Amino acid sequence: MEFVLYEVKGQVGIITISREKALNALNSAVLDELDKTLDAVDLDNVRCLILTGAGQKSFVAGADIGEMSTLTKAEGEAFGKKGNDVFRKLEVFPIPVIAAINGFALGGGCEISMSCDIRICSDNAVFGQPEVGLGITPGFGGTQRLARLVGPGMAKQMIYTARNIKADEALRIGLVNAVYPQEELMAAAEKMAAGIAKNAPIAVRNCKKAINDGLEAGMDDAIVIEEKLFGDCFETEDQKYGMAFFLDKNKEKVKEAFKNC
Ligand code: CAA
Repeated sequence: MEFVLYEVKGQVGIITISREKALNALNSAVLDELDKTLDAVDLDNVRCLILTGAGQKSFVAGADIGEMSTLTKAEGEAFGKKGNDVFRKLEVFPIPVIAAINGFALGGGCEISMSCDIRICSDNAVFGQPEVGLGITPGFGGTQRLARLVGPGMAKQMIYTARNIKADEALRIGLVNAVYPQEELMAAAEKMAAGIAKNAPIAVRNCKKAINDGLEAGMDDAIVIEEKLFGDCFETEDQKYGMAFFLDKNKEKVKEAFKNC
C-alpha cells in the first residue's frame, strides 16, 4: 500500500491515511487502498478500528481537487460512487470504527469521518463542507450524513455557506463527541477502542447493526430489528458468561468454568 497504513495493536486495528504532501486528500488510489484495507481486516481477532490521518496538520483535506478538476459529468458521478461505496463499507463494517480527527476534516474528510461510528478530534481540527465554493455539491455522502448527524438546519448552513468550523463548534453541534489536545488524541482513541474491544464482541456488533439498521426504519420496524439482534445474543458464550458472572457470588468459579471460551 502506498497511501494507507494498517497496524494492529491487541484487538484494535489502526488505519492511517498517509498522503501527507496533499494533506491526506482522497484520490482514486487512496480510495482503492482503503477498500482493500477494509477487506483485509481480520475480523476474527480485531474488534474495533481507528481511522486517522498521517501527520499533525490534517486528517483528510477532502477529495483530490486536482483529480476532480477535469472530470466529465459521467466521471464525476462515478467518482462520487467510488467514494460512497468505500464510505458505506466503513459505515456498515461489522465492528465499530472510531475516527480520530487530527486536523483538517474538509469535504471528503468530514464525510469519511461521518461514516465512522464515533468521532473524536484534536483541538486543532477544522471541519467543513467547502464544496459549493468549488462549484460542486458534497459528493461522498455529506448532504445525507451531516443532516442526519447535526440536523438539517445546521447541515444546510454549513453546506450552503461553505464556512469551516473549529473543534469547539463541532463539539457544540454534536459533530464530534470529544476534543483532546493533539498529543493526547491517539491515546484517547486507543483507550476508547480497547474499552469497546473488551466487551462481548457479538453484542457490540449487534448493537452497531441495531442502531444503523434501526435509524433507517420506522419505529415499529426498528424495535423488531432490535428484538432479533437482542435474541441473537442469547445462548452465546458471552451471554452465558456475562450473566453467570453477575449472578454467581463465586466469581472465581465462573471464571474457571469459562476459561476456555
Ligand atoms: N486536493 C488536492 N490537493 C490538496 C487538497 C485537496 N483537497 N487539499 C490540500 N491539497 C494540497 C495543496 O494543493 C498543497 O499541495 P502543493 O504543496 O503541491 O501546492 C498541499 O496539499 C498543502 O496544502 P496548502 O498549501 O493549501 O496548505 P494550507 O495550510 O495553506 O491550507 C487547507 C490547508 C486550508 C486545508 C487547504 O489546503 C485547502 O483549502 N484544501 C482544500 C480543502 C477542500 O476544499 N476540500 C474539499 C475538496 S472537494 C470534496 O471533498 C468533494 C467531495 O465531497 C467528494
